[in-house]
Amino acid sequence: MSLLNIQGVSKTFPGGTVAVDDFSLDVAAGELVCLLGPSGSGKSTVLRMIGGFERPTAGFVSIDGEEVTHLPPNRRPTGMVFQSHALWSHMNVFRNIAFGLRLRGLPAGEIKDRVEAVLELVGLAGYGRRMTNQLSGGQQQRVALARSLVLEPKILLLDEPFASLDQHLRERLREEVRDIQQRLKITTLFVTHGQDEALSMADRIVVMRNGRTEQADRPEVVYRDPQTPFVAGFIGTMNFVEGVVDKGRFVHDSLSVPLPVADGKATLAVRPEALNLVASEPGQARVNRVTDFGTHGLVDLVLADGTRLKSMVPEPDRFREGQGVDLLPRAFAAFRDDRQLYRTSAHA
Ligand SMILES: Nc1ncnc2c1ncn2[C@@H]1O[C@H](COP(=O)(O)OP(=O)(O)O)[C@@H](O)[C@H]1O
Ligand SMILES: [Mg+2]
Repeated sequence: MSLLNIQGVSKTFPGGTVAVDDFSLDVAAGELVCLLGPSGSGKSTVLRMIGGFERPTAGFVSIDGEEVTHLPPNRRPTGMVFQSHALWSHMNVFRNIAFGLRLRGLPAGEIKDRVEAVLELVGLAGYGRRMTNQLSGGQQQRVALARSLVLEPKILLLDEPFASLDQHLRERLREEVRDIQQRLKITTLFVTHGQDEALSMADRIVVMRNGRTEQADRPEVVYRDPQTPFVAGFIGTMNFVEGVVDKGRFVHDSLSVPLPVADGKATLAVRPEALNLVASEPGQARVNRVTDFGTHGLVDLVLADGTRLKSMVPEPDRFREGQGVDLLPRAFAAFRDDRQLYRTSAHA
């Protein structure tokens, strides 16, 4: 049985904004699910409805078999960490974390033990007496996390908790959160608009768009088998070529690849790492620029009609600006009417 069950939940704000539109999701105990989508796609609103900070206009939320749709936050077994950590600046770290336990009337000795254990867990052992304004941004977010974890919620809700931190710290903290999550086996929903964050942390990614689920799958499936052009373009880099299918071949200018589907318009989608190049004059494309990243090169290409493509190559010095190349897509997907039409099975 799933620990969290969200069924047909919608949220329309006064004024008419439909933030979430018939959203359903089951999350298994111990799972880490990332809600990924552009700004305004309804991620925070979904999370806030799970935590009880927002009331759905339709649908149900159940946790561990109990319906909680209309319960206030403090009567739900959830803990939420927001993007801007609201720590109390007039209290030290210990008291910030102990606050919720005090409200529950726990004995002082047990509070001390639990706060010290959770400080250790988030890598802040010995920081109890510090005032929160004496902490770095990353340390403050660790305190915010500890404050939620100490209450031992069944579900941890994280809303872009590292968005305000720099890249390196963000990467480190997401690894730490993943470690903690796996040690505690705590069911977690993590909101992010960063694909790297989702790909590196999630057991499952829910790609959201306009308040709806576009696709929900394991990270590698979302990357390799996108069901819509939106998912294909939102996660990783994707080359899109518009063309037509004619007698089993996709055709765009001089580019033509076998595509065994019914005739009609189609969009070909090829990852840069799946697009091989061979020198050819005049060629199907022209090299616009070559960037050497050390580990690989990225060749920026332009087709006759101006379509831009990228190809990842192991030896960038084999290509130079202005040169003609033919394109050999090793693996690709094709879309029509906003749905996946075809995908090559081999991922060479
Ligand atoms: N309290 C609110 N009142 C009115 N509109 C809101 C409110 N909160 C969010 N919205 C709107 O709902 C949509 C989804 O917002 P949100 O869930 O915050 O998206 P995300 O977290 O994906 O950026 C947006 O159009 C946003 O402007
Ligand atoms: Mg948000």
